[in-house]
Amino acid sequence: MQIQFGVLGYGFMGHIHTDMIKGLEGAKVVAICDNDPTKLADAPKDIVKYTDMDDLFADENVNTVLVSISNHVHKEAVIKAARAGKHILCEKPAAMSVKEFDEMIEVVKECGVNFSVHQQRRWDKDFRISKEVYDKQMVGDVFTIQSKLYGFNGNMHDWHIYPEFGGGMLYDWGVHLIDQMLWMVKGKIKTVYADLRNVINENVDDYFKIILKFEHNITAEIELGTYFLTNKEKWFEKHWFIGGNKGSMYVDGFEPVGQIVRTSQLLENVPGKTTMTAAGPTRSFGPPPEGRIIVEELPDVNVQHSMYFDNFIKAMNGKEDFIVTIEEVRRVLRLMEAVRESAKTGRSVDFE
Ligand SMILES: NC(=O)c1ccc[n+]([C@@H]2O[C@H](COP(=O)([O-])OP(=O)(O)OC[C@H]3O[C@@H](n4cnc5c(N)ncnc54)[C@H](O)[C@@H]3O)[C@@H](O)[C@H]2O)c1
Repeated sequence: MQIQFGVLGYGFMGHIHTDMIKGLEGAKVVAICDNDPTKLADAPKDIVKYTDMDDLFADENVNTVLVSISNHVHKEAVIKAARAGKHILCEKPAAMSVKEFDEMIEVVKECGVNFSVHQQRRWDKDFRISKEVYDKQMVGDVFTIQSKLYGFNGNMHDWHIYPEFGGGMLYDWGVHLIDQMLWMVKGKIKTVYADLRNVINENVDDYFKIILKFEHNITAEIELGTYFLTNKEKWFEKHWFIGGNKGSMYVDGFEPVGQIVRTSQLLENVPGKTTMTAAGPTRSFGPPPEGRIIVEELPDVNVQHSMYFDNFIKAMNGKEDFIVTIEEVRRVLRLMEAVRESAKTGRSVDFE
């Protein structure tokens, strides 16, 4: 089956999707819809344009709708597209709540159409390296995993600063960072503890710290801040850290730099050596004895965001399963609700 996309919403992501799909086999964009006609000015000439989503859904050339409008209208668009018999690829977060999502999925199932969500950050290189280290137990039994993203300009933009549009960083980036963590660490999450704040934005969250306790005793921490100011010539910082009983892994940046570090004398009772440091005399936190630290390169992974679409196209043709499933998307939405509850009550929330 040739995927004939109707792109709904020709803003930031609508443009990115249309460009990306141009380079893919088995799919093309046949129509674009945006209710702001000025947005359609630079749309490709040979593509049909609409300003009303109902017209896009009525277009017989479109067999799949790519929903890339702001979050608060995902529900309306998905339900209408499903009722028109279109398959759906929806931007994240799929819905504003679990309740909304359940209503959407009920219609999707009733209409027998396919549905997947654009969690393309499962193909981020820094994440896939970390996942490889975790999956292959390269640092032994893992006890802690940290995923962090800090912005240095204090900036949030457009509809993202309004809660009624589904704004806020938890919905924007949190949904990716949580999805990555839950896809990597299998197993039940016992508890969720979270801090969620509006540091400089009046109405939406622009900072969060989430602590997940998994049933097999791994603690995962996800932190994001948009207001970590610096005058360095950097726009953001991105970090992964995995701590295991046989080593540590550090990965920095989306074009990742990092290493795996081990010690050569694990658990040997070496005599304490006092070192003078700026913090005062110390034995545990001074430099290690000569030759004790072993550094290894990170595994190489070859991934790119178009691989999300490769899977989508194959899954639509029955050649693979959808990598991003409805159940996984719902679990992330549930977790974001637990984050809100924990942040509101100041207590950890039992999850699964
Ligand atoms: N997966 C990712 O990495 C990623 C990145 C950015 C945004 N997103 C998601 O993509 C979606 C769109 O975000 P964006 O940043 O492109 O927003 P945007 O504001 O740049 O674009 C949205 C477009 O949708 C149009 N629109 C809004 N309501 C409409 C309606 N009812 N009918 C037709 N058109 C309508 C707007 O006019 C606008 O042009 C959001 O769900 C967002 O969370 C995903």
